[in-house]
Amino acid sequence: MTMASGRAIFALILASALVADADTEHGAVMFGYSGPTGPDKWASLSPDYEMCSKGERQSPVNIDKNVVAYNPGLEALKRDYVPANATLVNHGYHVALLFDKNVGTVLADGKNYNLESVHWHSPSEHTIDGRRFPVELHMVHKSDNGKIAVVGILYQYGRHDPFLVQIQKQLKELANETCKGDEEARIPVGVVNASALKRRSRKYYRYFGSLTTPPCTENVIWSILGKVRQMTKEQAAALQAPLHQEYRNNSRPTQPLNYRAVELYHEAKKHDEKSN
Ligand SMILES: *[C@@H]1O[C@H](CO)[C@@H](O)[C@H](O)[C@H]1NC(C)=O
Ligand SMILES: *[C@@H]1O[C@H](CO)[C@@H](O)[C@H](O)[C@H]1NC(C)=O
Ligand SMILES: *[C@@H]1O[C@H](CO)[C@@H](O)[C@H](O)[C@H]1NC(C)=O
Ligand SMILES: *[C@@H]1O[C@H](CO)[C@@H](O)[C@H](O)[C@H]1NC(C)=O
Repeated sequence: MTMASGRAIFALILASALVADADTEHGAVMFGYSGPTGPDKWASLSPDYEMCSKGERQSPVNIDKNVVAYNPGLEALKRDYVPANATLVNHGYHVALLFDKNVGTVLADGKNYNLESVHWHSPSEHTIDGRRFPVELHMVHKSDNGKIAVVGILYQYGRHDPFLVQIQKQLKELANETCKGDEEARIPVGVVNASALKRRSRKYYRYFGSLTTPPCTENVIWSILGKVRQMTKEQAAALQAPLHQEYRNNSRPTQPLNYRAVELYHEAKKHDEKSN
């Protein structure tokens, strides 16, 4: 494909996305990850997206292990999920799994947040000591008053991820539907066991930030798990397959921390203190 025809196709996708979105209740304007709709242009695409450049508490960020402060006041990340019906959706800019109500909660900063959906970015959006990982999972939890708690899990290539095994057939179907031109394809998955995502985390990084996609709203409590998980290269590719080429790299660059601190929860240190 020539550069010119590539651009023409991209413009066409963008145009059809804009038309489609005009019908949605949010009236959201489609954004991208490179070129004229790339992350540095998000704020100029819509007045609704102005926080993307004006905000001072934006996400993702780099986590510098030498600078994070251990906070003895942080509590273990109490997560409790049960099996629930879910639907796999291609949002165009990422693949998401939407749960029916009541899949479970996370306790963050003294408040309960309900798990609503999970989605994936590749490569990772958060970096650790400047290192980017192949994939990052975002578990999006919401409180009754609209605040958001996202648990982020970083993945490197390795063994099978048992959670993705449960939806691998539906991921193939989603890619197939998108090929046929259905932009916002939805595939019912049936019951998904979210317990596979619940394994105990002895370490996490906590900071206050934003959504990593427009409108970049600054109402997110972030918990990035210290334990890097594994998935196979085939699983990572299956998550990208339903997306158009321009969205297969759907990682926002890291944002300045400004006056914020990234804090560390560390189970072992907490135990040391108790025994002292
Ligand atoms: C999932 O949906 C099916 C069909 O609607 C229903 O029979 C079943 O009880 C649901 N399971 C759960 C765990 O919600
Ligand atoms: C993809 O779509 C075609 C045509 O609708 C269908 O025959 C085929 O079974 C589908 N494949 C998968 C993996 O869903
Ligand atoms: C869900 O998965 C967990 C661990 O991955 C397992 O212990 C549990 O039995 C599963 N529950 C159901 C209902 O399949
Ligand atoms: C993804 O895009 C960013 C810039 O938008 C770039 O820095 C990065 O190298 C790209 N990653 C891959 C794996 O293509």
